[in-house]
Amino acid sequence: MALFQPTWLGGTAEVLFRKHHEGVTDDIRWRLHTSGLTDADRDHFRTVWTQSAHQEWCAAGAFVALQEALLLAGAPVDLLGASGRFLADEMLHVQLACGMATAYGGGAPLEVDPAAIRPDVDRTLEPRLQVAELAIRVSCVGETFSLPLIASEFASASDPLSRKVLGRIAHDEAAHAKLGWLVLDWLAPALTDDERERLAAVADDAIDALRPALADDADNRATYDDILHKRVARPLRQRGIPVVATGFWQTAERRLPAHGPDGVARAVRGHSPRS
Ligand SMILES: [Fe+2]
Ligand SMILES: [Fe+2]
Repeated sequence: MALFQPTWLGGTAEVLFRKHHEGVTDDIRWRLHTSGLTDADRDHFRTVWTQSAHQEWCAAGAFVALQEALLLAGAPVDLLGASGRFLADEMLHVQLACGMATAYGGGAPLEVDPAAIRPDVDRTLEPRLQVAELAIRVSCVGETFSLPLIASEFASASDPLSRKVLGRIAHDEAAHAKLGWLVLDWLAPALTDDERERLAAVADDAIDALRPALADDADNRATYDDILHKRVARPLRQRGIPVVATGFWQTAERRLPAHGPDGVARAVRGHSPRS
């Protein structure tokens, strides 16, 4: 374990990075009206936003793993190029979340496992199947749910700074969720029935991993179940992947098959509620 302590190099690195998101952070005024908050409130928000920064860091790791798998599998050039800016997007989100933690008084001490940035995937599988598994976990499930989670936070945020930051993060997530479906469109025609069954179990495992993050947001149960069915389960089934997709407030019954990876529940590396 190690303390999560993102750093900033400045100079040419900063200039090059800023070219990626020209102007996005220029008009952000990093000031919050915290006069009505107690010290405990401030500590809570410092912690929440520090955790968010680490989740964005892990989202970057998930995309890097997917991109590496795509390269190894000989994916189409335009498909690979389409995801090229996602690492920079997630680093912008890290920067924004760190800015929020700072506005509340500074980042909170957070012990993390540095290896947690590597999404779980059975690395004994052939590359195209690793790609399919990562695409489902990282993008089709994880990033698809990032957007409604952030939208929920946006709806409950009252201060202009939080709304500006959450709005910018949400702006990038739709494209992040699209990539997985493009990957599956490329791979699906060649998948065998056994491979489709296995990928369905992978999808159900990824859906199960989201339950803890959604459990506290009971106000949006109907929204999350609707997204699960319309934007995850239906498009997976349309691509021949027979996911069960048990509703988030029902008991999950499906688990990875015995011949699959280690069977340990794996978290989707992505976003979870900030409050
Ligand atoms: Fe993000
Ligand atoms: Fe993302």
